[in-house]
Amino acid sequence: MTKRQAVITGAGQGTGRAIALRFAAAGIKTILVGRTESKLRAVAEEIAASGGEASFQALDVTDDGAVAAFGAALEGEALDILVNCAGDWLIALMEDTSDEQLDHILRVNLRAPYILSRTLLPNLRRSDNASIINIGSIVTSISVPTVTAYTAAKVGLKGLTGSLAAELRSERIRVVMISPGPADTPMREAASPGIDKAALVQPETIAEMAHTVASLPRGITTGDFTLHSMLFEAPD
Ligand SMILES: NC(=O)c1ccc[n+]([C@@H]2O[C@H](COP(=O)([O-])OP(=O)(O)OC[C@H]3O[C@@H](n4cnc5c(N)ncnc54)[C@H](OP(=O)(O)O)[C@@H]3O)[C@@H](O)[C@H]2O)c1
Repeated sequence: MTKRQAVITGAGQGTGRAIALRFAAAGIKTILVGRTESKLRAVAEEIAASGGEASFQALDVTDDGAVAAFGAALEGEALDILVNCAGDWLIALMEDTSDEQLDHILRVNLRAPYILSRTLLPNLRRSDNASIINIGSIVTSISVPTVTAYTAAKVGLKGLTGSLAAELRSERIRVVMISPGPADTPMREAASPGIDKAALVQPETIAEMAHTVASLPRGITTGDFTLHSMLFEAPD
């Protein structure tokens, strides 16, 4: 029997890495995508050491040429799962956010999932039970200050997820967004140094949900959902 195959962006660390490890443990062949080759190689070696199968491709998901070349290399292959997890954050007041910062946050968190999903759609169509899983954020349902660009991008991603889900429904390709609250990853460590990690959503929990979504029977989907830690108290 052919193994199921998944592309996971942002797989070199944090949530993407946890999703890759969870999928690999379930016997899914993983293709790890991220910017930093050494991180991807380390995750691929970790997967191989525990008996799983992984390959990797270092690329910047905002580089249309690199994404097109990646898609071309996969031409004709079936893809069962695409997880758009790569993302970047920015904490700044709107008045302190430059045009370049705004463009970067929109490109990596919104435009890149759009382009990659469109690029790999022919591959997903070759699967008999395909999923696109977009990693959103709690900011899509709870508005907080100093994240206007990030929030605009993630809310845009939510809209993209819903519209694409409707577009692909007749083909039984599910498109779902998982929106975590603050999660215990290097991104959070950088954004909130010294935060109580025990109060955060663990990346393994997000990975478990992603695996559950991707394991639903053909023709069944779920609405978007948030994963929120009840232990986390937002700072005043
Ligand atoms: N951590 C949180 O509190 C939190 C909460 C809600 C939602 N999220 C979302 O969860 C997702 C994963 O975040 P995380 O917390 O795991 O963050 P993370 O630890 O910073 O990991 C992000 C990964 O994305 C990769 N990446 C960033 N920009 C990229 C680009 N242009 N091209 C290719 N890869 C790129 C990074 O690669 P390199 O390491 O090579 O740079 C890194 O491996 C993001 O979409 C984030 O917005 C995070």
